[in-house]
Parts: sequence; structure tokens; C-alpha cells
Amino acid sequence: MNKKDIIKTYEFKIKKLDEHNELYYEKSEPKLSDAQYDNLKNEIIQLEKKFSYLNNPNSPSKKVGFKPSKSFEKYKHKVPMLSLSNAFDVEDLKNFEKKIFNYLKKIENIEYSVEPKIDGISASLTYKNKILKYGVSRGDGKIGEIITENLKTIKDIPIEIKKKDFPNDIEVRGEVFISKNDFLKIQDKFANPRNAASGSLRQKDPKETKKIPLNFIAYSFGYIENNNFKSQSNFLNMLKKWGFRTNVDNNVLMNVEELIKFHKKFEAKRFDLDYDLDGLVYKINDIDLQKRLGFTSNAPRWAIAHKFSADNAYTKINNIDIQVGRTGALTPVAKVKPVNIGGVVVSNATLHNEDEINRKDIRIGDVVKIERAGDVIPHVVEVDLVKRDKNLKPFIFPLKCPSCGSDTIKEYNKTTKKFDAVRRCLNKKFDCERISVEKIKHFISKDALNIDGLGKKVVEKFWEINLIKKPQDIFNLDFNIIKSLDGWGEQSVRNLRISIEKSKNTNLQKLIYSLGIRYIGIENARLISENVKTISKFIDIIKKKQFDKLLNIDGIGETQINSLNDYFSNKLNFKSLNELKNILNIESHDIVQNGILKDKTFMFTGKLDGISRAEAKSIIEKNAGTTISNVNKNLNYLVIGEKPTKRKIDQAKNFGVKIISQKDLKKLIN
Ligand code: IVH
Repeated sequence: MNKKDIIKTYEFKIKKLDEHNELYYEKSEPKLSDAQYDNLKNEIIQLEKKFSYLNNPNSPSKKVGFKPSKSFEKYKHKVPMLSLSNAFDVEDLKNFEKKIFNYLKKIENIEYSVEPKIDGISASLTYKNKILKYGVSRGDGKIGEIITENLKTIKDIPIEIKKKDFPNDIEVRGEVFISKNDFLKIQDKFANPRNAASGSLRQKDPKETKKIPLNFIAYSFGYIENNNFKSQSNFLNMLKKWGFRTNVDNNVLMNVEELIKFHKKFEAKRFDLDYDLDGLVYKINDIDLQKRLGFTSNAPRWAIAHKFSADNAYTKINNIDIQVGRTGALTPVAKVKPVNIGGVVVSNATLHNEDEINRKDIRIGDVVKIERAGDVIPHVVEVDLVKRDKNLKPFIFPLKCPSCGSDTIKEYNKTTKKFDAVRRCLNKKFDCERISVEKIKHFISKDALNIDGLGKKVVEKFWEINLIKKPQDIFNLDFNIIKSLDGWGEQSVRNLRISIEKSKNTNLQKLIYSLGIRYIGIENARLISENVKTISKFIDIIKKKQFDKLLNIDGIGETQINSLNDYFSNKLNFKSLNELKNILNIESHDIVQNGILKDKTFMFTGKLDGISRAEAKSIIEKNAGTTISNVNKNLNYLVIGEKPTKRKIDQAKNFGVKIISQKDLKKLIN
């Protein structure tokens, strides 16, 4: 067979496997016996081994070994399964602790539960009356899939717990993973151990799951009936007593210095462990403190993942591309000779910005060290100067936007009194194509409208053929045109239509975030939506150019206000938002309807005792009250702390506002 025929045979077999996957997993009408199916898979893998040029993303050797079923029943997590923020160095850890001290107004040693962060798949186990009732995948954190039967095949997961003190209603969480040793036996079928675990868990037939030896290590709870656990370490001990497997390397440590020492020691031994791990998790041990600290939108404030240092490799820079981001930032990207770093083939590495290229004197043709840590984009660490060819010229960063030709600038930062390291396209005429495309990619992304049927590549394609030029075009697509495009069939068009329809139900925070306004990330979008509550109010503020009203919000400052002003100075952006308002069903911000402080407004002056402003504000909101940051006739209570501002007290007296102490406030909420 010549090369052409080999490729043809290979592609034919992949297509055949794909058809049989669909028959088996989607339609539940298998036409091949198990042995025939395995044979077909094996033939493909053998061909790839023999002819290294063969490559197809649908190959069983890529990612998951077999196509997961899409037909699992959905399950809304009682308590969302969030992710963790990351710390990469001592500085990040110190910041984490500082934020906690600030929030709790506590500057003393804090105890941490320290746990290895296994790189697997998280799962939730709900036990009712001591029997495993639901085993659920994380899904998007809010809604997972019921995979109880598959989870039951894992020997570490108890199906019934007879211990007297095991709660009658509890949700235990932990990590499903495959050991490194077991992975060796099946490595030709999967890209990495994590994919093996994930593919195995999503099999339709639990017998398939059972074929791959999975493990489960428990590490937290979603909720517990009558929860009176005092500490995380105490809960971990109880898990063990009840019969769950917990990590033998869990530990309790006191402060950042101890954490760093332990991290160093543990990192050295990570390669001796029989499972993949990408860092350590530090959780504030005291559960009452955890409760006080609560959560940001994505992660708890009381925990952090301290990653291990990155994997790295040397390779050559073939070219440097300049990418334009949604906020106009010009990001240089090194196109490198493909290199395998920790099991992932890397061909692009970010160079961050113009200053970074100059500082490291990175040139096209250089041999460089590339690092890849966890899910973070690979980046160039340093140039191997010994290998530098003397003819290489310094890289000259373009001064015009490569997309629209506009002038670019480095902004002056008034606070740091320095020019930004990032060069930006000014996009004065609001016509920079790359910025617009990137904004649409942001609009559909997970934390925004989450239109998973429309990936980044599809957005590029639809932009090219003029199907999508503005976010609202997504809701007015001509599906007949799409059906006629290469690679689109009845089923994929149907899926796209469903996923767009689904995305129409959103909320105000997501919508504000989805607009991609500079400085309005998911957290600031939450603060704004909490404050304005409804889309009509938000639109009203824009119409009347009353962004200053938002300055009342703790956390929103001049930078955000200027950015909002700038964004909506483009009439098209306002028009887009108005059209989106009519197309989408936008849930208003969750307003705590009934609470002891309903319809009451509060303001603080002076330092509070033992509690931060942020926490006090959150307590008021939990009781249906609101906080504002100006004394006016709408204010009901001015809460006085230590060293209050006299002017505010005088103003409050003028308006007849009640002036109360922190103790009075406590009494109000019991
Ligand atoms: S606690 C809200 N503990 O890490 C708290 N997570 O990035 C999050 N993980 O989805 C979970 N070991 O898959 C926690 N000892 C541990 C963990 C752990 C691994 C994973 C888990 C989670 C992800 C968060």
C-alpha cells in the first residue's frame, strides 16, 4: 500500500468506528459484537503505531478511549461544586492569607488542612439513610450527571454504611482517579490518566467502567444534615472511620512558612506516588471560619490550590505572531517546533507582552525553554543563549494593530506611575475585526452565555462567512445555510439550535459579564448585578449616563466606571444590549425576598470590631437588607464603628437617620 492508500484505509476505519459509536452510545442499537468492535479499534491503533503520520482527532487513541454517552440524567447539585483558586509561589500564598486576615479582621496564626490535589475527576455521593442514593459527576459545577451505577463499581466507594454516627443525609465529595501503574496497562487507549478516568466514568454500561480500575479518595462534603463538625481535619478522620478512603498524606499545618516547607518536601516525592497530582490544597481548618469566609463566584475564599512547578522543555521559535485580544491587548505568541511537555504536544507559547520580549531578548530562531503548569497556557521562560545563531535580529514589535491598522499605545497607570507593559489597539472607530471576533468568543464562553455548541473555531468560521458579526446575530442564524456547510449535518445543526435556545435563559450577572467590558470580570459583574438587580435598571443607568451611581458599590471604582462609559460611548454596544434584552430571558439578581432587614438600608462609618465591611455587608444582604455608601434621605441606619467620620454622623442627623452601634446591629439580626 502506498501512503495515500494507507491514509484512506485509516480514515475509513475511523469513520466506521464513529458510526458504530453512535449506534451503540446514542441509539443503543449496536451492530457489532464487542469483539468485532475491539478489533476495529485495535486495527486503528496498530496503524497509527506503524505509520506515525496518521492522525485524526476522532481516533480512539486520542483523548477518551471510547465516546462517552450523552444520555445521562441531569442532577442539580444542592451546593455547587466549585473550583479552587491557584497559588504558584510564596507571594500568591501570602496574598491569600492577607486577604483572609483582612476579611476576618484576624491577624494571628491560622490552622490549615493540607491535602494532596489529585489530578482526577471530582464526584459527589449522596447517602440517604446510610445508603448510596446518587453518584453524580461535577458537570459544570451546578448541574452534573447521574452516574451512580458506574461509581458503584469503584471498590473504594461504600454502598451502605452501617456506622451509627453516619448522618442520615449527607453528600460526600472526592476524586475519582486511576493509578499510574494501572494506567500503564491501558495507555495506548488514552491520552492521560485523567482522560482514562473521565471516559470510564461516562460509559453507558457500568460493566465498561468496571474494566478500568478506578479509585476514589474522599475529601469534603457538599452538605450534612445537622452539621456540627468543627474542623476539616476532624471531618476527614470521620470519613475514614465511616469506611471511606482518605489520603494518607493529609496533614494539619499552621502558617505560610510551614505550608511552603511541606510543599517543597512533597513536590520532591510526587514522582514516587502512584497517582498524578498537580499540587496541594490548603483549606482553613476551622469550619466556622470557612462559613464566615464563604465563596466568590467560582471558588471558596477559605481554600487555595498550591500548584507544583511546571513541566518544561526546550524547543525552537519558528515565528512570532501578534494576537489581538478582546480588550485590544496585543499578545505576542511564539510559534514553536512542536514539543511534548508532560504528555501534551505544545506548538504555541505565550510571550505575554512587548516588554517581556524586550526584557528576555527573545528572537525568531532562538532555542527557548517552555513551561507548562496545569491548565495555564504554556509560556517561554528563557532563551538558551549558547545556542543562539549570531545572525538572529532582535524582534521589532509592531506599532500598528495587525488587525485594523490603528495606532497602538501603552497606557499610563496613574497609581503605579508607570506605563503598561501591554500595548493596545486603540480601536477608535470601533471597527477592529479581531477585537469584535474575540468579544463574540467571550460572549459564548462558559461563564458568560455558555453556548457550548458554538466553539471558538465555529465563531471564526461564521464570522468569515458573515453569519455572525454581532452577539445578537447568534439568535438569528440561518440554519439552512449552516446545514449546507462542510462538516455540518442534521444532528450537529440540531444540537447547535438547542444549545442556543438553552442559552437564552440567563441571568443579569452573566449578561453583564458576557459583554466583555474591560475591567468588568465575573466578580465585578456580580457586584453590579447585585446592586442594580434588574436589566431595566441597568439600561436606565446607561441611558441616563449615571454610571457614577455605581460608585456606591464597594469594589467598583473610577477604573470600572471609566471603562463602562467608554464601552457605552459606542452606540452600537448600547443597541446590542437593548436587542439582547428583548431576545433573552434575563433572571434578575437573586433578591433575598424576605428577611428581618427587608426594605432597610445601612451604611457604615469607622472600623468595625472583629469583622470586615465586606462580611458585614454580606450578613445584611443575607437578611434582605441593602448597604449604600452615601448618607441620604433613603438611608435608614448609620452603623458606627471605631473612629467614625464626624461629617457622616452630622449628615445622618440632618436627615433624621438612625445612628446605631455594631452591637445594635447584631441585636437587629438576632
Ligand atoms: S476541595 C470548593 N480538596 O480540585 C472546594 N478539591 O480545583 C473544591 N481536588 O474540582 C474541592 N483534590 O476535582 C478539594 N483535597 C481536595 C482535592 C480537590 C483534588 C480537585 C477537585 C476539584 C478541583 C478544584
